[in-house]
Amino acid sequence: MITSISMRVSGMSKSDYEKWNRKYQKNEKLLQRREPSSVISQYIPAVTTNKRALDIACGSGRNTLCLASMGYMVDAVDIALQPLQKLKEFANDDKIYDNINIYMADLDSFEIPDTTYSVVVMANYLDRDLITKTREYIEIGGYFILDTYIDDIRNEKIDSNKEYLLKEKEVASLFGDKFEIVYKSTYQNESYELYRMFKMAIVAKRIR
Ligand SMILES: C[S@@+](CC[C@H](N)C(=O)[O-])C[C@H]1O[C@@H](n2cnc3c(N)ncnc32)[C@H](O)[C@@H]1O
Repeated sequence: MITSISMRVSGMSKSDYEKWNRKYQKNEKLLQRREPSSVISQYIPAVTTNKRALDIACGSGRNTLCLASMGYMVDAVDIALQPLQKLKEFANDDKIYDNINIYMADLDSFEIPDTTYSVVVMANYLDRDLITKTREYIEIGGYFILDTYIDDIRNEKIDSNKEYLLKEKEVASLFGDKFEIVYKSTYQNESYELYRMFKMAIVAKRIR
């Protein structure tokens, strides 16, 4: 039974929609169940209250599922259909679908729900403007988790669009002066990916 989670659909750019759906069709491995970002279990406290989390570009929801199982109500947003269907399936299997709101939407025009979040996650995705916008929705004491690819000389995929790669020198200013970076680590990407790439996991805590 995978119909329990409603999917809210809002304005989408055709090119991103087609590009990502094609990518998921070509590489079904991307739809498989995968481990969440390890910084989540290391840094984010489990909750018993209705704390909220936002998973930006959630894909098939490895981080959404992890946060929902820790007690968060998660708003999960992505533009592609297949991974969101997988997320529904996984959430039903884990019996945590009541904790997840799925939005099929283009993040370029997505209206952030009128709420505050304890945790915002952006993983394997980088949109600097969206970081600036969403960090304002985080409550004091809450966290922004960024876990994404960096611009590193050791990367094997040399034709990557550098705009989507995080640069070490921009990290300090990325979250503004209301956040403190409490964890930062560089590591090699997960083995299921085709190329060796370097990534950075950052935990920024809102302090004011
Ligand atoms: C590399 S995947 C990362 C998925 C997930 N965050 C993870 O770490 O497993 C990037 C995701 O961004 C989504 N995406 C790309 N452009 C988007 C857009 N404009 N609006 C919403 N989602 C988008 C894709 O559909 C894809 O699921």
